[in-house]
Amino acid sequence: MLLSGIIVGLFLGFASGEDGSAGWLRYAPLPHASSYHSIPSSIIALNNTKSSPVYTAQQELHQGIQGIFGKTLSNGTSTGKDGSIIVGTAHAYQKSYGDFDEAGDIEEDGYFLSTEGRQVLILGQNERGALYGAFDYLSRLAQGKLDTVSYVSNPHAPIRWTNEWDNLDGSIERGYAGPSIFFENGFVTGNTTRVAEYARLLASIRINGIIVNNVNANATLLSARNIDGLGRLADAMRPYGVQLGISLNFASPQTFGGLNTFDPLDPTVDAWWANITNQIYARIPDMAGYLVKANSEGQPGPLTYNRSLAEGANMFARAAKPHGGIIMFRAFVYDNHINETNWKADRANAAVEFFRDLDGKFDDNVVVQIKYGPIDFQVREPASPLFSTLRNTSTAIELQVTQEYLGQQTHLVYLAPLWKEILEFDLQADNRSSKVKDIVSGERFRRPLGGSAGVVNVGTNLSWLGSHLAMSNLYAYGLLAWDPALDAEEILQDWIRLTFGHDPKVLETITDMSMKSWPAYENYTGNLGIQTLTDILYTHFGPNPATLDNNGWGQWTRADKFSIGMDRTVKNGTGNAGQYPPAVANVYENIETTPDDLLLWFHHVNYTHRLKSGKTVIQHFYDSHYEGAATAQTLVKQWESLQNKIDGERYEHVLFRQTFQAGHALVWRDSINQFYHNLSEIEDQAKRVGNHPYRIEAEKMTLSGYKTYSVNPFHAASGTTAIVTASNSTVGTATTNVTFESGTYDVAVNYFDLIGGKSQYELQLNNRTIGSWTGDLEDKLGHAPSIYLDGHSATRITFRNITVVKGDLLKISGRPDGIEPAPVDYVSFLPPGIVD
Ligand SMILES: *[C@@H]1O[C@H](CO)[C@@H](O)[C@H](O)[C@H]1NC(C)=O
Ligand SMILES: *[C@@H]1O[C@H](CO)[C@@H](O)[C@H](O)[C@H]1NC(C)=O
Ligand SMILES: *[C@@H]1O[C@H](CO)[C@@H](O)[C@H](O)[C@H]1NC(C)=O
Ligand SMILES: *[C@@H]1O[C@H](CO)[C@@H](O)[C@H](O)[C@H]1NC(C)=O
Ligand SMILES: *[C@@H]1O[C@H](CO)[C@@H](O)[C@H](O)[C@H]1NC(C)=O
Ligand SMILES: *[C@@H]1O[C@H](CO)[C@@H](O)[C@H](O)[C@H]1NC(C)=O
Ligand SMILES: *[C@@H]1O[C@H](CO)[C@@H](O)[C@H](O)[C@H]1NC(C)=O
Ligand SMILES: *[C@@H]1O[C@H](CO)[C@@H](O)[C@H](O)[C@H]1NC(C)=O
Ligand SMILES: *[C@@H]1O[C@H](CO)[C@@H](O)[C@H](O)[C@H]1NC(C)=O
Ligand SMILES: *[C@@H]1O[C@H](CO)[C@@H](O)[C@H](O)[C@H]1NC(C)=O
Ligand SMILES: *[C@@H]1O[C@H](CO)[C@@H](O)[C@H](O)[C@H]1NC(C)=O
Ligand SMILES: *[C@@H]1O[C@H](CO)[C@@H](O)[C@H](O)[C@H]1NC(C)=O
Repeated sequence: MLLSGIIVGLFLGFASGEDGSAGWLRYAPLPHASSYHSIPSSIIALNNTKSSPVYTAQQELHQGIQGIFGKTLSNGTSTGKDGSIIVGTAHAYQKSYGDFDEAGDIEEDGYFLSTEGRQVLILGQNERGALYGAFDYLSRLAQGKLDTVSYVSNPHAPIRWTNEWDNLDGSIERGYAGPSIFFENGFVTGNTTRVAEYARLLASIRINGIIVNNVNANATLLSARNIDGLGRLADAMRPYGVQLGISLNFASPQTFGGLNTFDPLDPTVDAWWANITNQIYARIPDMAGYLVKANSEGQPGPLTYNRSLAEGANMFARAAKPHGGIIMFRAFVYDNHINETNWKADRANAAVEFFRDLDGKFDDNVVVQIKYGPIDFQVREPASPLFSTLRNTSTAIELQVTQEYLGQQTHLVYLAPLWKEILEFDLQADNRSSKVKDIVSGERFRRPLGGSAGVVNVGTNLSWLGSHLAMSNLYAYGLLAWDPALDAEEILQDWIRLTFGHDPKVLETITDMSMKSWPAYENYTGNLGIQTLTDILYTHFGPNPATLDNNGWGQWTRADKFSIGMDRTVKNGTGNAGQYPPAVANVYENIETTPDDLLLWFHHVNYTHRLKSGKTVIQHFYDSHYEGAATAQTLVKQWESLQNKIDGERYEHVLFRQTFQAGHALVWRDSINQFYHNLSEIEDQAKRVGNHPYRIEAEKMTLSGYKTYSVNPFHAASGTTAIVTASNSTVGTATTNVTFESGTYDVAVNYFDLIGGKSQYELQLNNRTIGSWTGDLEDKLGHAPSIYLDGHSATRITFRNITVVKGDLLKISGRPDGIEPAPVDYVSFLPPGIVD
């Protein structure tokens, strides 16, 4: 091996401040770099065309080794190859240097990496594979993994794409990191700098395609100007081996092309799509293909003309086939006007019902893209039964890196464990091992295509996702798309070392925070398979369980005074359990064998039903909401223990978000618990729910310029009521005398931060200002904003270690701004160690 040395001691390889734009490709100096004496001295790249990923690999190796070791390598020539890093395709290597043993084992996009002997060999099956190998080698170096290796790495599946839900006007549906890097003002952006940087990040995790526009697609993307713009995006991505693809609007021939129909069996429509496809491929010969959302949530589709979904998909397949293009056709098709009074109605049945009879009717270049669960990216869902239904159709799994229902990047939720549960789930088709990961790779049902699509939604925010810690999800998405057998914690730890360095305390702390983050979020949002109990009619962020029922969207909980859950059994319910192969169906059909964490997904039970743990359903709700919210508080303390071990810029950024999460987790906890306590009228055995001895409700204070306000939903406010200023221009005050014993307290204020105003607040004790703040979270957090006092806008600020004397006059002053009437819910005086 060329490199030697063991990392001893610690080293903080940080620039003075880090904005996160480098992601995990920081190439920070390795501790004791100078002791690695025998780094190769040159790089030989076997292709010097500037658009070649092999050329990119060479640049990247130069940059990486310079950063990690402070060493400038020369560009070698093929004659003096000893002591060189040789990077290129296996084919090019064989032409110059002759055969090598592993050549036959490398599959498409795969690579061979060897640090044995006097050279480092990085040889791809294709140019993209060579770049992947270079990134892998650099990742090893950056992590101080300097042992001698020699292995072939091949992808689990050919399709490893991201989906970006970017609109042409520059907004992003379910994006939480600022506007689009791809589009602005109705057109493709003129500046592709960040597009290239994004392609670089994605290439390093072996993603090979990006669908750049929203699945709710706008046909004006197909204008001549935009096609040329797409060409520029593809040009920027090409050196990284990342192909461009686009989402199409099914009605384009009519709404954009001026035809009087978009019937997929009409020859003029066929010709129109062939023409537009030819135009696109003329500009982008290596375009990946199309993504289509049809007959879903109001989008047009073939059903308008009584044509099947397969007939619709195949129309695009015919147009793209001569160019080698792939059609990703979304299985997210359902009726959003179903009637809850019908006990058998079930949105979870829709995908199988729509697609079952179409199996085998899709052209070979069509891939049906299936969300991981039957509903919509909930905190817990069983694997979609469609994976085991389609045996003669290629399929891909759709995952969400953007945290639509999972905290919108303001809550830490490391998603790889969730994805792993789905990917490793065995659907037991024909009583044979049928793991989801082996179905979507094409292996299980012997399909030519397959893979994964991850909805990412990066924005112009320098940190890409608006949150430094959320980047572990993007990193893990790419690595699991390449190799779903990888361990979620090992992926995470590689990412931590690359992102935050080598300090063992940093590694241990961020690992612990991340690995408990999904269970904690599930605990305080929606447990036992009831779904994320968020507001499905508004922004999918804060709590609002009532919105899941009594509408046609079908995300029902069927909660009433006595009972809760969807009866999806065959014997008495919607029959959804019967959509799974028999071995799995039996498990879900029977309440005794259904795992507790999916109990309410498959069964309708009384709140007093006993779980396998012995607890009742309702007591489990109360307990886990308390435990999950308590875990969220510990994340703040854990992060604070890393001060001075993380650069200041990222430390403060993450601390702000963790503090927000801790406060919002309490909003979730109290909201959900109040809702079900109110509905069931069953007491919490531990007497916590509805009992908050450390709080002073704002509405019980003496108000001047403030008035009381009944919050809707009621459970988003402590005691159901908050205060708002009586006018939109005059400062309001709320006062009371503190009745708590004298001592030191953390004083927390729960208030509502609406978009559309930046109220100013001041908190005083006997004229001593103990805190002041502005309601400006719309600038500081990226989650979907709310214009109401509700579970999305409810938040908390805490002032620590405040000396309080019994009888002190507590005064809150609020200055309204815009539509935001300086709303306040309550103030808590928390003795040390208490969170409430
Ligand atoms: C070098 O890279 C270019 C661009 O990717 C490619 O077109 C060409 O075929 C490559 N040359 C060889 C010899 O592989
Ligand atoms: C090596 O070649 C690359 C182009 O492939 C060039 O950017 C770089 O400056 C060269 N480095 C040296 C040290 O000559
Ligand atoms: C499509 O994009 C154009 C250009 O930005 C815009 O004018 C139009 O309103 C969009 N159409 C829809 C349905 O969003
Ligand atoms: C293009 O975008 C990059 C990254 O945001 C920026 O640094 C650069 O100044 C922009 N270039 C132009 C010409 O606006
Ligand atoms: C598309 O149709 C237009 C107008 O009919 C025609 O001028 C053009 O040549 C066609 N382009 C291709 C690529 O088929
Ligand atoms: C749902 O079905 C019930 C019973 O058939 C009917 O009374 C009700 O009007 C329906 N609701 C809607 C929104 O269609
Ligand atoms: C069976 O379904 C009905 C609704 O049709 C429901 O009221 C009843 O509780 C269910 N019975 C059982 C045992 O789950
Ligand atoms: C569920 O609760 C209802 C209403 O209290 C009761 O009639 C029913 O017997 C209970 N069912 C079970 C299985 O405990
Ligand atoms: C989640 O709640 C369960 C059940 O109340 C508890 O056992 C577990 O420790 C909690 N986990 C976290 C991370 O909060
Ligand atoms: C608070 O300030 C006001 C106005 O300056 C003053 O009248 C009042 O006496 C002060 N109260 C206390 C408790 O210091
Ligand atoms: C409330 O606090 C104010 C200011 O300290 C004081 O003047 C007043 O006497 C207190 N009232 C009671 C009832 O303690
Ligand atoms: C306050 O409300 C009035 C009346 O609704 C409105 O005209 C005015 O613009 C508002 N002022 C602000 C600062 O929003």
